[in-house]
Amino acid sequence: MIPQAFIQDLLARVDIVDVVGRHVQMRKAGTNFLGLCPFHAEKSPSFTVSPAKQFYHCFGCGAHGSAVGFLMEHSGMNYVDAIEDLARSVGMSVPRQEGPGDAPRRDPGLLELLAQAAQFYKNRLRESERAIAYLKGRGLTGETAARYAIGYAPDAWRGLQAAVADYDARELVDAGLVIDSEGDEGKRKRYDRFRDRIMFPIRNPRGQVIGFGGRVLDAGEPKYMNSPETALFSKGRELYGLFEARDSLRQGDCAIVVEGYMDVVMLAQHGVANAVATLGTATTPDHVRKLARIVDRVVFAFDGDEAGRKAAWRALEACLPHAADTKRMEFLFLPSDHDPDSYVREHGLAGFERLLGEAVPLSEFMIGELSSRADLTEPEGRARFLALARPLLQALPPAALRMQLLHRVAEVGAVGAAELERFIAPGDSPAHRGGGPQAGQGAAAHSSRGQRQPLRAPQLRPRAGPLELVARVRLLCALHPALARAQVDEEFLPPELVQWVDWLRAQPAGSSLAAICEVLRVSDPARAADLERDAAADRTLSAEMSFDEARDEYDGALAQLRERGVRERIDALAQDGLVTDAERARYLELLSMRRKH
Ligand code: UTP
Ligand code: MN
Repeated sequence: MIPQAFIQDLLARVDIVDVVGRHVQMRKAGTNFLGLCPFHAEKSPSFTVSPAKQFYHCFGCGAHGSAVGFLMEHSGMNYVDAIEDLARSVGMSVPRQEGPGDAPRRDPGLLELLAQAAQFYKNRLRESERAIAYLKGRGLTGETAARYAIGYAPDAWRGLQAAVADYDARELVDAGLVIDSEGDEGKRKRYDRFRDRIMFPIRNPRGQVIGFGGRVLDAGEPKYMNSPETALFSKGRELYGLFEARDSLRQGDCAIVVEGYMDVVMLAQHGVANAVATLGTATTPDHVRKLARIVDRVVFAFDGDEAGRKAAWRALEACLPHAADTKRMEFLFLPSDHDPDSYVREHGLAGFERLLGEAVPLSEFMIGELSSRADLTEPEGRARFLALARPLLQALPPAALRMQLLHRVAEVGAVGAAELERFIAPGDSPAHRGGGPQAGQGAAAHSSRGQRQPLRAPQLRPRAGPLELVARVRLLCALHPALARAQVDEEFLPPELVQWVDWLRAQPAGSSLAAICEVLRVSDPARAADLERDAAADRTLSAEMSFDEARDEYDGALAQLRERGVRERIDALAQDGLVTDAERARYLELLSMRRKH
């Protein structure tokens, strides 16, 4: 038997949008996600997934359920398999308990303990004049404290004893609420992790408390103490204030990322309700992905000092894999003696909004920062600039923003865009040669029109860099077969890609990557192996992209490949010497097409 408490903890950790998104292409539609129902045949989407309620519902056929239900219905798993599958996907392992009858003791779940602790801390705040005075002194209103469920952990070693049924339960350690230390003669001593601190509960998007941040009231160290990594809480994935900000995020389609708990809370008190904070860590790609799924515009607000610029640069790096053309990432620097909390208190809502208006887009921050690290007046400095830009350009998905940045970098580095493209292409290094037909770029693909290379052993070493463009497009539309349904202008695309898209179009809508590989293994085992290897080597986690993100990238990549195709035809014509009038006319025609791109 799987303990009920574990199942609750597990469901608090998984997001149904991720679970369903692995099988169904969906796009954001208001507060929900929308896609073609996998349970009945339909042409217009009536299948919705609600991140807030954590269930799916089809208005067409009435299919309805939770993440577990979805796995059971869709993948034909039984209940236990579905739970195990979900647990694996978030890195938890399923505990077992004896059958009913011999286990009268009910283990408390971590969520339950954390909720009890949060309530306890909240009540203690009401009783502590000192804690109330501290918060008042920082300008916090009671209303804001209530909105963020702020509390106070009393100055006692075993304060939580009054809050939970069993202070010795192992789960209290697992929840990160107490610390066990080896005392004298191996005697275990257990005490509260948080003592004499202002407590900021960290909630998951469903509003359940999954951890805490605690601040000292005086000048003690450490200033902030956070929950440790637990089964429910992982600093690199969670954002403080996301739950409280949810309505505002959806209304304004914009998120502001700040560094501190107090920044979030004070901004909200002044009417900026869409701020969230990383939890004492650098911004991670996971953070960005989470936000980009909810909003199209993300503004990072950092302190104006050196540490702030460093943090902003880390955030920029975290943004790159998610920089789809429809997303706008911006950077904002505060005057060096301010953080968002102090700024909004001094300058008010209007002042902060003025500052927001001055945020610079990702491209500008990137070029500016790179230029400042190299002397652009010398070839050596420009070489350094290009070398610094290289990994960043490589990390960008092949969409229009990448093209734009590529041209800017080429301009500043005083090289041609095509030269720069070659410089950053991972396929050019010897380690990547022999990658097979999917590595055949441009000219090679054209000359080998339709011909397949011989079968290769499937256990090729994974490639080091991002996938080559054709391989990437192929993977994207294998993950999202609906992409293949759109008509493409085939003329300048590599024929092998056109064939691939044609083939995918004939597969059932909503096929998963696994299903596609299964079919392919029969007709073309080498290609199936390629695809599986590409999926494994994929650094940008295409599998976790929303359909919209994938489509943006797909369109951008096709545009880039088409441009490449046009360029190759131009070169080929020029090489043949433009002898006939027809060739000259065609040459001019191609040139004008190139300019349009
Ligand atoms: P800051 O030191 O900038 O604090 O840390 P702050 O947010 O301005 O705090 P106040 O205004 O003095 O209360 C920014 C964030 O870094 C994390 C916390 O998340 C904090 O909000 N931090 C800071 C820690 O995790 N531990 C620390 O010791 C300090
Ligand atoms: Mn501060």
